Amino acid sequence: MRIDVVSIFPEYLAALDLSLIGKARRDGLIDLAVHDLRDYTYDRHRTVDDTPYGGGAGMVMKAQPWSEVLERIDESGPLATRPVGDAPAAAATVDDASSTEAEAAERPVLIVPSPAGAVFNQAMAYDLAEHRHLVFACGRYEGIDERVIEWAEDRFDVRPVSLGDYVLNGGEVAVLAMVEAVGRLLPGVVGNPDSLVEESHSDGLLEYPVYTKPAQWQERDVPEVLLSGNHARIARWRRDQQLRRTADRRPDLILELDPESLDKADRVL
Ligand code: ADE
Repeated sequence: MRIDVVSIFPEYLAALDLSLIGKARRDGLIDLAVHDLRDYTYDRHRTVDDTPYGGGAGMVMKAQPWSEVLERIDESGPLATRPVGDAPAAAATVDDASSTEAEAAERPVLIVPSPAGAVFNQAMAYDLAEHRHLVFACGRYEGIDERVIEWAEDRFDVRPVSLGDYVLNGGEVAVLAMVEAVGRLLPGVVGNPDSLVEESHSDGLLEYPVYTKPAQWQERDVPEVLLSGNHARIARWRRDQQLRRTADRRPDLILELDPESLDKADRVL
């Protein structure tokens, strides 16, 4: 997978060199580049923002540096039809309709982190993991001039995405979270793919509690069933714990469950 991240704080994204995602990059599973938006400005101060039309507090990110960096990324990404620096490809003719459709289906996904976006979740992470090219546009200040978002729709599959119902200072923290959530779903990134199956949200429920040695610690015992060696009992106990936890902590998820996904022995707790 190819990932491009645009930010005015490229150093913020240095954490993507570490841990699982860093290793996936070194192993060639993720080709990730971070771009400094200020490299696409032409004034001495490398200005990326200006005052909002209509007045109001704060500053708005200017359209021009964004369109230039996004054009550059689109033209050099894995879905590009021409190398960087070449003249733009001629407009598609009617004869090209079918290949144009295929390319449209493969447009890079442009994720615009914003508190005004759809809230990110595991289903979105799975969906994004299916794409070949993700581009993240980290806004700061009051956001990016809306015309960039409209303009980008001709080239990208544009998706405003929020990390949650709170306000961050910019998109960088959201990108760290999303790249990790998506990257770990790519084949070969997580050593044991079974660990992706039994984790929170993979089946719409929260994960069951886990324990390791010793069996007794500070007068607290590991639940007896886990020491029983009875795999059917253990599986039932874990499923009950998932249902109970989810009902306690995230009743909204219980309401969203597909009734088909419930097993006969599942009880409403
Ligand atoms: N930028 C500012 N707040 C954000 C949020 N909640 N999610 C994603 N990007 C943001």
